[in-house]
Amino acid sequence: MNPTALVIAVAYSIVCVVAIVILLVIWRSTHSEPPRRTDDTDTDRLAHGEKAWFAIAVAALGVLLLATLAFIPYGDTAAADGQQAVAVDGAQFAWTIDPSVVTAGTPVRFRVTASDVNHGFAVYDADNTMLFQIQAVPDHPSHIVYTFDEPGVYQVVCLEFCGVKHHEMLGTIEVKEPS
Ligand code: CUA
Repeated sequence: MNPTALVIAVAYSIVCVVAIVILLVIWRSTHSEPPRRTDDTDTDRLAHGEKAWFAIAVAALGVLLLATLAFIPYGDTAAADGQQAVAVDGAQFAWTIDPSVVTAGTPVRFRVTASDVNHGFAVYDADNTMLFQIQAVPDHPSHIVYTFDEPGVYQVVCLEFCGVKHHEMLGTIEVKEPS
């Protein structure tokens, strides 16, 4: 995890904890204790049980959130060591893929943008099976990391209707054997 992602993760955790505290305060204010009766009835015990389960559920969700934060891919915007960086730009009606030749077995980090309207960057293998797809949006780069296991020529297809020649918006990525 890079430093920027860590800062985002920590900030996100703080916001979540604050939100949980606010929700608990609101919940408490709307569930004030009923007047105490001398005999502890079954309904009182049931109400207590519900509160306990609510607290357990909130605690479990909080723990789950904190434990999995590091695995959230968002904010991971810099190419890590050992990755191949490929810049992709979609424009009516062609893909610019730079470089368009990569090596098998090494993660490829795609930075995907668009010059005019939204496009859909999808990569297919020789069997016409889609390997991944990501939106190409003007002014908002998307990132995706994919490792090609097999050398070969992979087809790039636009999956977002972007105009009259949308269906002609194709490209290729060549994956070479590691040298
Ligand atoms: Cu670009 Cu459809």
